[in-house]
Amino acid sequence: MAHNLLQGKKGIIFGALDENSIAWKTAVRCVEEGAQIVLTNAPIALRMGEINKLAEACNAPVIPADATSMDDLNNLFTKSMEHFGGKIDFVLHSIGMSINVRKGKPYTDLDYEFMHKGFDISAMSLHRVLQTAYKLDALNEWGSVVALTYIAAQRVFPDYSDMADAKSLLESISRSFGYHYGVAKKVRINTISQSPTRTTAGSGVKGFGDFISYADKMSPLGNASADQCADYTVTLFSDYTRMVTMQNLFHDGGFSFTGVSAAVIESMNEK
Ligand SMILES: NC(=O)c1ccc[n+]([C@@H]2O[C@H](COP(=O)([O-])OP(=O)(O)OC[C@H]3O[C@@H](n4cnc5c(N)ncnc54)[C@H](O)[C@@H]3O)[C@@H](O)[C@H]2O)c1
Repeated sequence: MAHNLLQGKKGIIFGALDENSIAWKTAVRCVEEGAQIVLTNAPIALRMGEINKLAEACNAPVIPADATSMDDLNNLFTKSMEHFGGKIDFVLHSIGMSINVRKGKPYTDLDYEFMHKGFDISAMSLHRVLQTAYKLDALNEWGSVVALTYIAAQRVFPDYSDMADAKSLLESISRSFGYHYGVAKKVRINTISQSPTRTTAGSGVKGFGDFISYADKMSPLGNASADQCADYTVTLFSDYTRMVTMQNLFHDGGFSFTGVSAAVIESMNEK
């Protein structure tokens, strides 16, 4: 169901690790909608080699960049503009990692080196990306930047640990930079708060399997899939959402505004 929503647009997609990645699905959808893209990921993730399949399918170059390295990001934006022969219309930031979560550290016993690194990768990297683009004047007017987040930024999900704090920071950066980039260049910046989704990053959270079925039961429409997230992201990159900026947009089947559902109550009675 392609509608040429992104015909003639050029974008950079961060974070496609394997075919489950939200960024992978989004890359495919953007190309189906007529966009040209550049793919990027951390050098260590590229060594897995999976991304080459996606690059071939999307006819896209892969330019390595660790999102915590200003040199890498400068190189990425400069080379992307060379490749496109002009400026960029959209950027997807689909990056997240908490070493504390990976190592199963409880929230009351965090390692601060890990926390620092996690914040840099998962949140400050958005500022780094935006500041690099801003200084290089790499984005076209009415360009669109989307970063992926999770509702643990607003409500407590205990096993999400310090990733919840990273997501709060990510959403705040999106608002703050959204103001400055909006005034200067009419660039819009939003976060999409996605349902729990089976991916490498998602599965790192303790008890993820049970949690995903709880969220599904709580959401009137059920959990939003990665494919549906890709569809929603395409609309935000398109010209149909030009006046939407500095928002945290819930893409979660109604989970965020549901207090309790009949399905969850029923499942408690079963026990
Ligand atoms: N899966 C979920 O349940 C879920 C729910 C809501 C939001 N999100 C968010 O969606 C985004 C994408 O995650 P995903 O679920 O597709 O998992 P994923 O593991 O497929 O993607 C995470 C990506 O981050 C990249 N990354 C890690 N460190 C990096 C660095 N230093 N520089 C550049 N890239 C780096 C990884 O290589 C990987 O490609 C993340 O921000 C995640 O927090 C995921």
